[in-house]
Amino acid sequence: MNLILLGAPGSGKGTQAKFLVRKYSIPQISTGDILREEVKSGTVLGLKAKEYMDKGQLVPDEVVVGMVEERVKKGDCRTGFILDGFPRTVAQADALEGTLQRMKKALSRVILVNVDEDELVKRLTGRRVCEKCGAGYHVIFDPPKQEGVCDKCQGKLYQRDDDKESTIRNRLKVYNNQTTPLIEYYQKKQLLSMVDGMGSIEEIFGRISKAL
Ligand code: AP5
Repeated sequence: MNLILLGAPGSGKGTQAKFLVRKYSIPQISTGDILREEVKSGTVLGLKAKEYMDKGQLVPDEVVVGMVEERVKKGDCRTGFILDGFPRTVAQADALEGTLQRMKKALSRVILVNVDEDELVKRLTGRRVCEKCGAGYHVIFDPPKQEGVCDKCQGKLYQRDDDKESTIRNRLKVYNNQTTPLIEYYQKKQLLSMVDGMGSIEEIFGRISKAL
């Protein structure tokens, strides 16, 4: 199963991808996570990407397209993958189609997770991430047992640099301008399923499972 999770920043793509990984035993490919790893490692790519990420802008298409092409060719994607945060522009979607065609593969479904803007801002400002294992939390909606400490590995929780309110507003603008055209793009290909992303994490996972 080759899936795309589409949705605004904070719509829960990463959260739901983790459940899908467990259910279908296929890997999550998060371009945001790959880019943050590059930033952490201080690579040339990471340093360049950081300039865009800190402002809430998209990293240039040619950078992410190459990254994803390399990733979907890896052996663990043989039976499928979950793209989380890619594609984000029509150019990226076209490039993905070309890559999959060359690999004699096709997309199975694109799930659009719809969430109100006020809720997105609440989710993003309260998000915390484990610096060691990457597990995600929310200070109100999904708090760890001990404040600031990961339940799974005892790592320290931090707030992402781009989860400050002014950057969040910019990320939402960028999503509305550059990524929402993909809704029509995948609708025309009859691949899109819209899922209500309001409610509990479990409720939303139930809706996604039903759509699949
Ligand atoms: P990326 O990391 O992809 O960020 P994003 O798309 O903005 O998405 P988020 O990770 O912020 O949100 P999410 O939908 O995964 O929500 P989550 O599950 O964490 O990208 C970061 C940056 O990298 C971009 O701005 C760009 O610069 C660059 N980039 C990445 N991909 C790129 C690309 N393809 N092209 C160009 N540039 C690219 O949930 C959020 C919070 O809400 C969590 O705290 C969670 O616990 C909580 N939550 C989740 N579900 C619920 C629920 N149902 N109820 C209550 N709380 C919930």
